[in-house]
Amino acid sequence: MYHIKPISAEETYPVRQPVLREGKPLEACSFPGDLEESSFHLGLFYNVQLIGVASFIKNKSQLFSEENQYQLRGMAILKEFQKKGLGKRLIDEAEIILARNKTKILWFNARENAVPFYKNKGFHVLGDSFNIPDIGKHYSMYKEF
Ligand SMILES: CC(C)(COP(=O)(O)OP(=O)(O)OC[C@H]1O[C@@H](n2cnc3c(N)ncnc32)[C@H](O)[C@@H]1OP(=O)(O)O)[C@@H](O)C(=O)NCCC(=O)NCCS
Repeated sequence: MYHIKPISAEETYPVRQPVLREGKPLEACSFPGDLEESSFHLGLFYNVQLIGVASFIKNKSQLFSEENQYQLRGMAILKEFQKKGLGKRLIDEAEIILARNKTKILWFNARENAVPFYKNKGFHVLGDSFNIPDIGKHYSMYKEF
């Protein structure tokens, strides 16, 4: 009944918007790199309903020297489906794809509230917190493969 499959950047908007860009226009749901050929977007479905999304953009952070890096963006599960182990399934699926791509580092800027979720999945915090205007306190996080 739950399944994960690749979707387009635009198909992520109905989950990105209420969870990550509440009250903002649809244009605010587009992220740099979304449409690059190396990017991929995963959708988690409950039957036919899209309830979770995560996007993976090939983007090098200066924090790491490795060549093959991906950035996680727009990780979101609809509120009524959170805390059921679904975010965890989305990350597990992505890690299989990233390992196949020979990705060395997956990094991202995590919202403060989501840091415990990512730590639970084996990601590490790097450095101090920083503010992203309109969104709040974030931490750089990563996992090395
Ligand atoms: C963060 C988010 C993606 C996590 O997905 P989820 O489906 O709710 O998380 P899961 O149920 O898979 O959680 C997996 C584990 O992390 C823990 N966890 C999840 N969110 C947590 C939180 N905020 N604080 C502490 N632990 C948390 C769960 O208890 C679970 O632990 P367990 O395996 O020991 O039982 C989701 O809650 C969400 O969309 N939040 C709002 C948007 C957001 O903050 N996105 C991240 C942007 S960086």
